[in-house]
Amino acid sequence: MQPLPPNPFRYGAIDIHPEVINRVVDRSRLRDVLSEPGGRLLIHGRRRMGKTTLCKAVVEELKAEGVAVLMVDFSTATQLADLSNALLQKITAASGKGWQDYVSDLMRALSLQLETEADPLTGAIKVRLKPIARTAPIDEQRETFIGILDRANELAKQQGRHFALVVDEFQELARFEDEATLWNLRAAIQHHTHMSYVFTGSRVHLINLLMASDRAFYKMFSAINFEPVPLAEMRAWLAGKFEASGVVQLDGLGALLNLAEGCTVDRLRLAAMSYPLAAASGELTQPMVDRAYHAVIEEDKAFFQSDWQQFTQHQQNILRAMAEGETKLGSARVRQRFSLPASGSVSNTLKALLERGVLYGTESAPGYAYDNPYFKEWVHQRNQLDLGLS
Ligand SMILES: Nc1ncnc2c1ncn2[C@@H]1O[C@H](COP(=O)(O)OP(=O)(O)OP(=O)(O)O)[C@@H](O)[C@H]1O
Ligand SMILES: [Mg+2]
Repeated sequence: MQPLPPNPFRYGAIDIHPEVINRVVDRSRLRDVLSEPGGRLLIHGRRRMGKTTLCKAVVEELKAEGVAVLMVDFSTATQLADLSNALLQKITAASGKGWQDYVSDLMRALSLQLETEADPLTGAIKVRLKPIARTAPIDEQRETFIGILDRANELAKQQGRHFALVVDEFQELARFEDEATLWNLRAAIQHHTHMSYVFTGSRVHLINLLMASDRAFYKMFSAINFEPVPLAEMRAWLAGKFEASGVVQLDGLGALLNLAEGCTVDRLRLAAMSYPLAAASGELTQPMVDRAYHAVIEEDKAFFQSDWQQFTQHQQNILRAMAEGETKLGSARVRQRFSLPASGSVSNTLKALLERGVLYGTESAPGYAYDNPYFKEWVHQRNQLDLGLS
């Protein structure tokens, strides 16, 4: 028997050169902003849509064309000093020939907070914050953070070029709850005519906090709402991959797209799980997709179980009702069936679930939907067991 071709569907790792599903419009907008000094763009949207992947792909493309572009990830920072370190590392690496000027300029301005180390092989100087800077008073940390960006802008100006910066998961800035930093950052960014900034984020409630009319980033950015890859485009891309790997009958593809819903990763995951079932016969059928769907849920069962235990009883009951497709969560029938609290409490609970990323906001009633279709199905299965629903 011939061995099966390798699974053509991969997800999870951030590939620098992914065979991306081409988000033509978003991609060209991102390229334009990063290529133009003074550009400012916010990319926001649900988790697992492919924001980081698209940014990485465009950053690599521009780097290859000689643009000084860099990407930093704020998602794991615990304090402002961590963000400064992340910036320092990337800006020094991206300044190319100019790194010496940048470093000496920084050291003149911020020597109290910084230390340097020479790479024994290349002689290049690495700059980082002194460990003590992590415990420095917030105004010093702020001065360092903004100073790093100011000096990058100065360097770009001297060299007659520009630096493009992508900040992934920028909304973590809001966690530091230091309004002064945000306002200083706003002012700095507005003066950085030799920089361009792209911020991405997925935690909608934090982004809203930063962007509200009385908040620091109000009207600072043009925005892209990162929607699902359009269904027809996704279908064509998946079909092409299946066919190239020997699966030519695709009767189950509609069911796959339907069950996986909109998130890129959820779609790729179901495709990856379905492929080995289909590869042997060259045919993807609906029963195969159903089997793969349940296999994905089986794979994540332990995570779902432990998440479930973290929810309050109200949260669990609301999730149960939503897993049964209920939209009128305030109605007497639904409240009784799922032991829901009074409607004010229902809306607070929905908001809390949104903030945790379990739900996302939608236009249609009840205004929220499950972020993860596999989790929704798992809750539905639990309902059958726990509540005897059919
Ligand atoms: N355009 C694409 N083409 C192919 N695969 C993609 C594409 N976009 C995303 N993926 C796959 O989906 C995975 C998740 O994407 P990514 O991490 O970029 O999403 P994200 O929107 O940044 O999510 P999060 O909000 O969780 O950070 C990637 O690891 C990649 O495997
Ligand atoms: Mg991301």
